[in-house]
Amino acid sequence: MQERLKELQAEAIQKAAEAASLKELNDIRVAYLGKKGPITEVLRGMGKLSAEERPVMGALANEVREAIAVKIEAKQTELEEAEVQAKLALETIDVTLPGRPVKVGNHHPLTKIIEEIEDLFIGMGYEVAEGPEVEQDYYNFEALNLPKGHPARDMQDSFYITEEILLRTHTSPVQARTMEKHQGKGPIKIICPGKVYRRDNDDATHSHQFMQIEGLVVGENIRMSDLKGTLEVFAKKMFGEDREIRLRPSFFPFTEPSVEMDISCKMCGGHGCNVCKQTGWIEILGAGMVHPNVLEMAGYDPKKYNGFAFGMGPERIAMLKYGIDDIRHFYTNDVRFLKQFAIEE
Ligand code: DAH
Repeated sequence: MQERLKELQAEAIQKAAEAASLKELNDIRVAYLGKKGPITEVLRGMGKLSAEERPVMGALANEVREAIAVKIEAKQTELEEAEVQAKLALETIDVTLPGRPVKVGNHHPLTKIIEEIEDLFIGMGYEVAEGPEVEQDYYNFEALNLPKGHPARDMQDSFYITEEILLRTHTSPVQARTMEKHQGKGPIKIICPGKVYRRDNDDATHSHQFMQIEGLVVGENIRMSDLKGTLEVFAKKMFGEDREIRLRPSFFPFTEPSVEMDISCKMCGGHGCNVCKQTGWIEILGAGMVHPNVLEMAGYDPKKYNGFAFGMGPERIAMLKYGIDDIRHFYTNDVRFLKQFAIEE
């Protein structure tokens, strides 16, 4: 019996040493140390032994068991370690591989222009104001001195939702809304960028939806020369110090007098070319002194307060500044077009 136990010990240790996987090792553990294993079997036969032999044999059986268990345990640690090493080798990262480039987007050219104009006016003490795109006829027209049936309404073909509600045709209603909010007290200095809508057929220079930036200054003793100076600073900052401006008389129902501002054509230096239609000048915006009726309707005393306003189209400014020939490029999202503005973010 003693010999049989020694044999089993040697056999189990040998097999454990040769085990190639954790599964194999576990099978060996079950086979030798399990309840149905040969050692248990041997111990079952102990009943036939004498009282002196029994404790000796019991102690030996425990020794054998312990020796096998120790060996299996050591082998298990070894196999587990090998498994970890194999996994690490498999998952090695080659830090010398060149990285994959990450695609980065860029600001839309119109966003850039609008932010540039905002910064310029913020630098002159203006605040940025906003208003709704779905607007009341009252703010879009009436409060701007364009009563129902006024012929100048035809200049802005509109998308009406109901008889009293429409998609705003310009950002000028924000003037009326801001003045109303100030309840007849000055001063006001705002610019308002935003989307506007007109029932135009889309072509290279027209879009049914486009952007405008409105400016409004209300205070005491505001003069036409303040408007001219402001617009001149704006034009030179936007288009270059060498540009000239010119104010032409014009008509807008909400300003009196009204003007349009042109800048000298950079392409031809004022001699006349295709860009400026041979005139040497390019129209940039509409402006004027706020009409007394507009001030009064918004709750201002036109004898005490006056002001100036202007409105411009950022698409037109971007087209001139970047040499873009079709307004539809801004809205058709061709990445080849948009990518060209990825510089100096
Ligand atoms: N709202 C005008 C338009 O859409 C532009 C404009 C002209 C705005 C003169 C003004 C202004 O504030 O004073 O054509």
